[in-house]
Amino acid sequence: MNSSTSVSHGTKVVVLVSGTGTLLQAIMAAADEAYSIVGVVSDKDCPAIERARALGIPSFIVPMQEDRAVWDKNMKDTVAQLEPELVVSAGFMRILGAEFVHSFTIINTHPALLPSFPGAHAVRDALAYGVKITGTTVHRVDEGVDTGPIIAQRAVQIEPGDTEESLHERIKIQERELIVEVIKNFEKGEYEHS
Ligand code: GRF
Repeated sequence: MNSSTSVSHGTKVVVLVSGTGTLLQAIMAAADEAYSIVGVVSDKDCPAIERARALGIPSFIVPMQEDRAVWDKNMKDTVAQLEPELVVSAGFMRILGAEFVHSFTIINTHPALLPSFPGAHAVRDALAYGVKITGTTVHRVDEGVDTGPIIAQRAVQIEPGDTEESLHERIKIQERELIVEVIKNFEKGEYEHS
């Protein structure tokens, strides 16, 4: 195929995962001319990595090291060789090191309306606080924990009798749609990393 007939595959995306991977599944299923997934990276073997492997997407496990700096470097090298234009943290449960954060354009999806309820237990914390509305936030990743600039949000009503599981499931329905929408609307060069 010569250059005049080559097809653009849109934004080259790397997805970071650690868990079940339902967000990853939605991102993979919606990939079209707007974006393609060039790799999936996890800190451990997990169902999300299996989902990527099943679709033949290049998949990498970068296990945490005793020396955190070694892991940071391994993560950076693994992602860099995939040459992504956008890195999407979708259920990735590790804090990314400063060098990584400054090397790529990264967005994260979080299951709460930031700046409320940052951290790993956002759904539990929102329920425990007694808020009536929570939701999901897609934001740029900076060096803090869920502190980067907000790109998009969706609200989810808390229902009487909600458990952490039932609420999280309803939030994840919105998360899947929102993260796909943000990736599709991503303009190359947007949210340039510093
Ligand atoms: C999502 O709610 C994400 O925001 C949170 O972990 C969940 C990941 O779900 N940090 P899954 O592994 O994609 O199903």
